[in-house]
Formats: sequence, C-alpha cells, structure tokens
Amino acid sequence: MSNAPVGVFDSGVGGLSVLQEIRQLLPLESLLYVADSGHVPYGEKSPEYIRQRSQAIAGFLLEQGAKSLVLACNTATAAAVNDLRGRFDVPIIGMEPAVKPAALATRSGVVGVLATTGTLQSAKFAALLDRFAGSVRVITQPCPGLVECIEQGDLDSLHVQQLLRRYTEPLLESGCDTLILGCTHYPFLRAQLQALLPASVTLVDTGAAVARQLSSRLHHAGMLARGPAQDTRIWTSGYPETLRRVLPMLWNGNAAVRMLSV
Ligand code: DGL
Repeated sequence: MSNAPVGVFDSGVGGLSVLQEIRQLLPLESLLYVADSGHVPYGEKSPEYIRQRSQAIAGFLLEQGAKSLVLACNTATAAAVNDLRGRFDVPIIGMEPAVKPAALATRSGVVGVLATTGTLQSAKFAALLDRFAGSVRVITQPCPGLVECIEQGDLDSLHVQQLLRRYTEPLLESGCDTLILGCTHYPFLRAQLQALLPASVTLVDTGAAVARQLSSRLHHAGMLARGPAQDTRIWTSGYPETLRRVLPMLWNGNAAVRMLSV
C-alpha cells in the first residue's frame, strides 16, 4: 500500500481526458498532473526535444513524491517511454493508439487513426500496425491545428468544425467505420465528432485502458492507495491563467493550478 500520489503528464491539457478515467477507476489515489502547455504541440517537435521535456517533467513529478508515472500522451510515449523506463525505477505507464481493439471492432475492414504527426511517424506506431492491424486497412490522418484549439478551450468553433470535417472526410470516403482517437486531446472533441460522423462510425480511445493498466501495475506492486485521496494538484508550463479558464471545460473537480518552472 502507498498513499503517495500518481504523476501524470501530457504536452498540455489533453491528458486530463486520461486523468478523468484514472480518477474514476481509482478514486483513492492522489493525483499530480503536469500540462507542458509552454511546449505544446509535441506532435510537431523532434523526438529528442520530447525526450528532454519528458525527462524534466518526470524528474519534477518524482521530486513531488510520485510513486508511479503515466504518460498521458501518445506522442511522448512514442518518443520517450523507453528512455524514461531506463532512467527511473518506478512503474511507468505509456499509451498507444487503440489499433488492436479497433481492428477487432471494424466490420468494414477499414480503420482510421487521428493522431499527431509525431505519433504517426514513430517506429512504435509502425510496430503497432505490424503487430495488430492484420488484414485490416488502417488509414492515418495527422491533425495539425486541433491541439492548439483545445489548449485555448476552443472545442466548438466553426474553425474546429472545419478542421474535423477536413480530417475525417477522406477516412469516410475510404469506408472507415472505426475511428481511433490517437491523441489524448481528441476525446474532448468526441461530441463534435459524433455530431459530424454517421452513427455507424465507432470512436475508440485508450484513456480507460490506461487507467486499468495503471490499476493492475499498482496492484501487482502492492502500491495501491488506501486513501483518502488528496486534492489533485496541477502544474502548467504555459500560462496558469489560461489553464484556470479552460480547466472547468475539461476537468470536473477541484484542482489547484500552479506554474511549472522546469
Ligand atoms: N496529447 C498528445 C498525444 O496524445 C499530443 C498533442 C501534441 O502536443 O501534439 O499525442
């Protein structure tokens, strides 16, 4: 048993979609969250840059007493999870686009993946396709611009709708019936996507699976918390004022927001 907190991070606010799943599944765990919004988007940065940011943030969260780390970011996982596992001796949970469940779920045999350029270009993603796509046709679609909108709390403007239409149209034309949300920011656009897409298209994301994976790792390591959970603490490397304004749209609960200086 350990009442020490779990440290979660993302390039920005996207990982709050994963944090929500963790809080739901593991309500006794205290949670720390870092939004690296001063360096967003990771999707357009080099793997080396993302590794350096991830090392700095992981070090910060461990200094705050984190017993385990969750990379609530597909892009950072692709670039940095192996490096972090080699450096830090705590359970480290990463995440990948949900290719396996999507390949099992599709009826048309065509799956679409919305993700960042960094994720889609990574060796980890290529290996994921080799392993799980099988005979399913997987069509990838990078989505530049979406993350920046979500960071500003813009979930529903005409601009966002135009971007969503532009990115999903080619997938629909190819017969995709299962759409992977391969970036943790995108679940915040789930309702907008559902309004845009035919009801026959299923959306798949990995937040709940990451929470289950964390639960299982903590359980096997004898590290689950007994509670009660402390209030969630959040740091941002961007403007705390922006995060305080956007947070109520993305996170249903109290959380103190502080400035991150690493
Ligand atoms: N939320 C991140 C992901 O899951 C990346 C967004 C970005 O910074 O480009 O991939």
